[in-house]
Amino acid sequence: MTEPCTFVIFGATGDLARNKLLPALYHLDAAGRLNRDTRILANGRRHADRDAWLADVRAHFAGTVRGGLDEEIFSRFAARTDYVHGDLRDSILYDNLCEKLSEGGAFPADLAFYMALSPSDYAGVIQNLDRVKLLDETRGWRRVVIEKPFGNNLQSAVTLQRRLTEHLREDQIFRIDHYLGKETVRNILVFRFANVLMEPLWNRNTIDHIQIIHAEPQGIGERGATYEKSGALSDMIQSHLLQLLTFVAMESPVSMAAEALHAEKLKILKSIRPIPTDKVNEVAVRGQYDAGTVNGTAVNGYRAEQRVSADSHTETFAALKLHIDNWRWAGVPFLLRTGKRMAQKQALVAICFKQPPQQFFRASHVRCEASNWLVIGIQPDECIRMEMTIKAPGEALATRQTGLDASFRQANEIVNDAYEELLLDIIRGDRSLFLTYLEIEQAWRIVDPVLQAWSNPGEDLHLYPSGSWGPAEADRLFDDSCRFWRNTLEPCGCGKSG
Ligand SMILES: NC(=O)c1ccc[n+]([C@@H]2O[C@H](COP(=O)([O-])OP(=O)(O)OC[C@H]3O[C@@H](n4cnc5c(N)ncnc54)[C@H](OP(=O)(O)O)[C@@H]3O)[C@@H](O)[C@H]2O)c1
Repeated sequence: MTEPCTFVIFGATGDLARNKLLPALYHLDAAGRLNRDTRILANGRRHADRDAWLADVRAHFAGTVRGGLDEEIFSRFAARTDYVHGDLRDSILYDNLCEKLSEGGAFPADLAFYMALSPSDYAGVIQNLDRVKLLDETRGWRRVVIEKPFGNNLQSAVTLQRRLTEHLREDQIFRIDHYLGKETVRNILVFRFANVLMEPLWNRNTIDHIQIIHAEPQGIGERGATYEKSGALSDMIQSHLLQLLTFVAMESPVSMAAEALHAEKLKILKSIRPIPTDKVNEVAVRGQYDAGTVNGTAVNGYRAEQRVSADSHTETFAALKLHIDNWRWAGVPFLLRTGKRMAQKQALVAICFKQPPQQFFRASHVRCEASNWLVIGIQPDECIRMEMTIKAPGEALATRQTGLDASFRQANEIVNDAYEELLLDIIRGDRSLFLTYLEIEQAWRIVDPVLQAWSNPGEDLHLYPSGSWGPAEADRLFDDSCRFWRNTLEPCGCGKSG
């Protein structure tokens, strides 16, 4: 059981709070994992008072919480909450917060401030909290949780960091990447460092290349205005996919303590070969979804979405080939790919092993023999599966692919949302699954040359039909025509005909 604390949520009326944070706190409460005295103080503008806000939360929960809304749990959850109405830019809000938090010992003295806000509001809110002494740690700890994106390029990240550290120490800042709260992502560490079996194989001697993929069938919905300022590279690759890469590629840390993990992750990010601005086209492919059909429904192209410019060149698809210049990974390409309006929802890491030195069992019409793969499914299905070649039953030496399954969840075990574990880590003060500033800065350094090259329109922006797997142009990132993108978890039945 965690110690009691107060969660102050700015932006408690927004999408993130309603769909992720508040349901996660409800689930923790339901599972008895939240201290009885932990309180939630919400801020928003949309609702005038606590009753209106809670009615909205309740209506939202009906469709989001696991197993449907339980009235008893909801009343317990509601009893933990309070609401302060007000505008972030109005200094009175902070006076009202101080007053509320000092009400007769109702709120525990340890305070976590969650910024479920537009990043442009972080610095102003933190400055105001400092002004009214709410960041003073005399009576308890103060932690500030910051959502992605942390800046929208290297320069803006540097500026944001400078503004935050005028008021906060680095160890008070919890930069969240919810991907790292996913159990399969954390399982990558256990799988790699609790088993000796994989370690001798986990290097350039046996691994041909590694793919890290996040595909989703959704378009940008109502996020047009925000998405126009980011695009797939910033939205997914700079954050989630580069973080996944660090988990797959890092050396064994000296311990699982936050500092040790952060040090190894940073070393990997620093070992990624810089991309020269004039070579972007050789290692990166951008695309944008056109009209098409997703799950049987006709959908618009990106440029016809709300609040998107009719001649937008924002990429909704990005693929990037990276090299890690260290002994373990020299010569092993890491291929990162993400897209919206893709054929299906799929996030995975696929590790493709080299071919045997001699092909004894090669069928004559197949030019490329099937490889061994280690596939780590992240969403929607979690799995860790090794694909092997075995003999097919019958007299000839025909082969087929089979999977050795190391999936970790039993059918009756529930999947916790990533935010649940991360919220508990904030209360415990465990920063191991949160990002340090140095990691973020380095991640921007990696993608900045590509962002610069893509800031202009160009013929290298490839339209792809919605419901496809993105532009075929992305295939050129493979050095060999026998290699191909892993779109799904299904075993690759056979080699690619050449
Ligand atoms: N949505 C997600 O699933 C998701 C996922 C990952 C990261 N994020 C990040 O999380 C942050 C929040 O995203 P979101 O989708 O929740 O945004 P959102 O739906 O637009 O919500 C923004 C919140 O900020 C509040 N707000 C804005 N200006 C304010 C002001 N002047 N005074 C008081 N409150 C103000 C809004 O309150 P009112 O509406 O009451 O005015 C609302 O509660 C962003 O940094 C986003 O990048 C979101």
